[in-house]
Amino acid sequence: MLKVEETQPVEFSSALIASFDEIVKRYPAGKQKSALLPILHLVQAEFGWTSAPAMDKVAAYLNIEPIEVYEVASFYTMYFLQPKGKYVLEVCRTGPCCLVGAEKIMDHIEQNLGVKEGEVTADGLFSWRGVECLAACGFGPVLQIGPEYTFYENLTPQSVDTLIDDLRKK
Ligand code: FES
Repeated sequence: MLKVEETQPVEFSSALIASFDEIVKRYPAGKQKSALLPILHLVQAEFGWTSAPAMDKVAAYLNIEPIEVYEVASFYTMYFLQPKGKYVLEVCRTGPCCLVGAEKIMDHIEQNLGVKEGEVTADGLFSWRGVECLAACGFGPVLQIGPEYTFYENLTPQSVDTLIDDLRKK
């Protein structure tokens, strides 16, 4: 994965553009904007997140306005608009999970990792954020870790510590 900073220009490799071309071919002529979501996934996989310069280049490639890319990328939470850690701990912060301690879990993660929500640890391994209901309301507090979206349920501060330690050892 290439590491890019917030305003750093990005270059799309010919292999990446060839992947874009394959996706665009699935849609009728003139409907290339329909390829936006999968193309953004490829961009994020390549660079680790979806930076403004990368979105501008996607807009140019698809021959659409940059705002059309921004509005889509900022709507879907699976696109990260700022750098993220290799592991992103996404903690459900919706009501039922809060009733069983989600906020305490988020505070504990912040303490353990030493970074605030949305920040990345110095080793680049972790970031965390609160997200809306993960559809595991009976098993809260709950978190997921992408890109496989593995679920961890009935969290306690101790189980979170174990989880983070295990990820560090990987
Ligand atoms: Fe947390 Fe639904 S409220 S998973």
